[in-house]
Amino acid sequence: MYRSHTCGELNESHIGQQVRLAGWVQKVRDKGFVVWIDLRDRYGITQLVFDQERSAQGLLEQARNAGREFVLQVEGEVIERASKNPKMPTGAIEVLVREFRVLNPAQTPPFTIEDDTDGGEELRMKYRYLDIRRNPVKEKLIFRSRVAMEVRNYLSGQGFIEVETPYLIKSTPEGARDFVVPSRLHEGQFYALPQSPQTFKQLLMVGGMDKYFQIVKCFRDEDLRADRQPEFTQIDCEMAFVEQEDILSTFEGLTRHLIQAIHGVDTGNFPRMTYDDAIRRYGSDKPDIRFGMEFGELNAVAQHRDFNVFNQAELVVAIAVPGAAAYTRKEIDALVEWVKRPQVGAMGMVYVKCLEDGSYKSSVDKFYTQEDLQQWAEATGAQPGDLICVLSGDAGPTRTRLSMLRMEMAHRLGLRNPKEFAPLWVVDFPLLEFDEESGRYHAMHHPFTAPKPGQLHLLDTDPAAVRANAYDLVLNGNEIGGGSIRIHDKETQAVMFKHLGFTAEQARAQFGFLMDAFQFGAPPHGGIAFGLDRLVAILGGQESIRDYIAFPKNNSGRDVMIDAPSPIDGEQLEELHLEIRPGQA
Ligand code: AMO
Repeated sequence: MYRSHTCGELNESHIGQQVRLAGWVQKVRDKGFVVWIDLRDRYGITQLVFDQERSAQGLLEQARNAGREFVLQVEGEVIERASKNPKMPTGAIEVLVREFRVLNPAQTPPFTIEDDTDGGEELRMKYRYLDIRRNPVKEKLIFRSRVAMEVRNYLSGQGFIEVETPYLIKSTPEGARDFVVPSRLHEGQFYALPQSPQTFKQLLMVGGMDKYFQIVKCFRDEDLRADRQPEFTQIDCEMAFVEQEDILSTFEGLTRHLIQAIHGVDTGNFPRMTYDDAIRRYGSDKPDIRFGMEFGELNAVAQHRDFNVFNQAELVVAIAVPGAAAYTRKEIDALVEWVKRPQVGAMGMVYVKCLEDGSYKSSVDKFYTQEDLQQWAEATGAQPGDLICVLSGDAGPTRTRLSMLRMEMAHRLGLRNPKEFAPLWVVDFPLLEFDEESGRYHAMHHPFTAPKPGQLHLLDTDPAAVRANAYDLVLNGNEIGGGSIRIHDKETQAVMFKHLGFTAEQARAQFGFLMDAFQFGAPPHGGIAFGLDRLVAILGGQESIRDYIAFPKNNSGRDVMIDAPSPIDGEQLEELHLEIRPGQA
């Protein structure tokens, strides 16, 4: 037996017991005649004591020489501490060590293993195993495990079966690039790692597994952001014999259960908003509805004067920022510079201060009367003390910019409270979206998503108008899940592929297996996938998913600890029938 107890559990009730502990040295305090060691494991810290009077000869010396992060095993008696630490669960006791063994010495760690470490991001990633010893990281991993367990319990309780699907597959288009794996046995051929198990879960429905879920790794070769990793985990789900309403209520149940189980909060029924409304009211398909600042469109009340910037714009749109009328000239100038940053991309910003006396002071007083500005205030719901921020230009990008400003202001005003949970279903997504780069329509969700009943014919005349039975679950301004009702017949799927620019041959070559399956009695079906990393991070009150992943990739997609990706040797390349052109290795 390596240990009789963990380092987190001993208290006054154990006084007098002989115990055996194992763990890492957090700290050594040497007072000459007495030495204390803080011994740490996953569960906590226990103070060990060695002294001249009570410890056997040599023990004090050994203790003194133990360095930070040495792995120790000790045996001794639990005794009452002279000076207790009420902040620690083990703070009333210490262990008077009788036997002491160094299981493994350690080099001095490159950063301190403390809650507030002196290690930078890069260093912590290189030595991630040491980082994981720190409470903030360790606790996030434990938290993730707990959420995953809750998910499994809940879905199993609802009759869902967890089925594993393969990782070496043929590409599934979800809008990102595939990671590919060269085949040794089949020269010139490649597997792709799944961007999601989408086609497989649909095939499971054809296979009759009418309630499926899987906590599964997905791989997407896309640009990284705080909420994106090239490999991430989904809670992937699919159901047969369901309509959109069934999916929404089942997974609203799951999400509500998780928030309740973890935070003890009942969010009530989730509100729903159409995609079009979300864009119009918040400029985003994942609006954060924990706070207001809804968009007010000003075209009707701002395009009748001589202000050409607005007259020439497709859209003039504004938000009222609570309490920001008090901003100084300098602060407003800084805000204008903020919206002009390339990441935001506005040409400029018009502002109106709504003064406490009911009058207005704006950057366009030359052009607009007090009555005009009052109409702007009405359109944005501005109160005295608020600052109206107005952007103008082409509708799409202008809304996106104002949405960024809205989120920034909410952040600055402390309105994005991580302890508050505001879920929202965004429904009725467009089926297709136009891609400027390729000059054609792409599936907004994926090519297997069903159009709204009765809208298929619109694909020929007005493709952008077709709405899909597709939905996203948004939590605090983050897309935590998305799904749709699927096409389940060969003809509709063929029409979809045609509109997405596939020839019949290309569709056959890529998705013949799915179209074939649809001919063998495919039930109506639909599903959803949650981003587990994101869900866990938001439930944990954070927006960066990285610390909730044990071994994440850095900003450029590298694992700096194992140094991947990295070149492979010539023999391996040859076996895989690959060749690196000179200058590329
Ligand atoms: P979708 O592409 O919307 O749908 O993905 C589902 C959810 O996965 C999360 N997610 C990510 N998380 C971290 N890093 C990434 N790179 C990343 N990409 C996506 C998001 C997202 O909402 N097969 C469909 C689901 C379906 O139709 O049932 C799919 O994958 O939280």
